[in-house]
Amino acid sequence: MIRLDKLLSHAGFGSRTQVKELIKKGRVALDGIVCRDASRNVENESVTVDGKKVQAASAYHLMMYKPSGVVTAADDPKQRTVMDLLPEKYLKSGCMPVGRLDKDTTGLLVLTTDGELAHRLISPKRHVQKVYEAITREVLKREDVLAFEKGIPLKDFTALPAELEIVEERVARVTVFEGKYHQVKRMFLACGNEVMKLHRATFGPLQLDEHLSPGLFRELTEEEIDSLYLAAGLERK
Ligand code: URA
Repeated sequence: MIRLDKLLSHAGFGSRTQVKELIKKGRVALDGIVCRDASRNVENESVTVDGKKVQAASAYHLMMYKPSGVVTAADDPKQRTVMDLLPEKYLKSGCMPVGRLDKDTTGLLVLTTDGELAHRLISPKRHVQKVYEAITREVLKREDVLAFEKGIPLKDFTALPAELEIVEERVARVTVFEGKYHQVKRMFLACGNEVMKLHRATFGPLQLDEHLSPGLFRELTEEEIDSLYLAAGLERK
């Protein structure tokens, strides 16, 4: 499902303002009936402009190896964003990051043109699992494992129970089922430790492709896309 003005804009009919004007003028029809409502959601209807069928914009689903030093944002006036790492074709299609990784966090970032999919995957209701590798300042303790397991109270919320596996003295593998701001770093801080490096290895059913280098991306395979829709509880479009 996509808003009519968004669909037309993605299909190359101009900016949102320009396509709204087209719609207002009665030049756009859904299944042959003129539609003057730019906010109308379109699902399977045939869309025409001046009687000519509109080719829906391509849907893209990507995995990126987010490097350190770029922000996860659609656009930023001062800093380099993950969008600066994508070719024009994906930007034009409306690809957006699914959730956020901090500027200094590396690893798996999913980007998609499907806003509903993105929304579902980051919804706190869905508990999509993410695995992070953390290097910490202090030696990890057995009590930390128990604290993570119990759910750590933070200033504004109590983190859901999470798994902390001690891989080495200062190397942990953390599995969380939510994605609040600075969550993993804050959980370690609450245990009197500090994250020095954070890397996301998995997101829901997806694993970071070992052939990707930092800053590179690839399109998801058909199987990966299906698994992502399944994790989101959505039918694939
Ligand atoms: N938790 C954090 O603290 N930072 C991230 O980038 C992701 C999860």
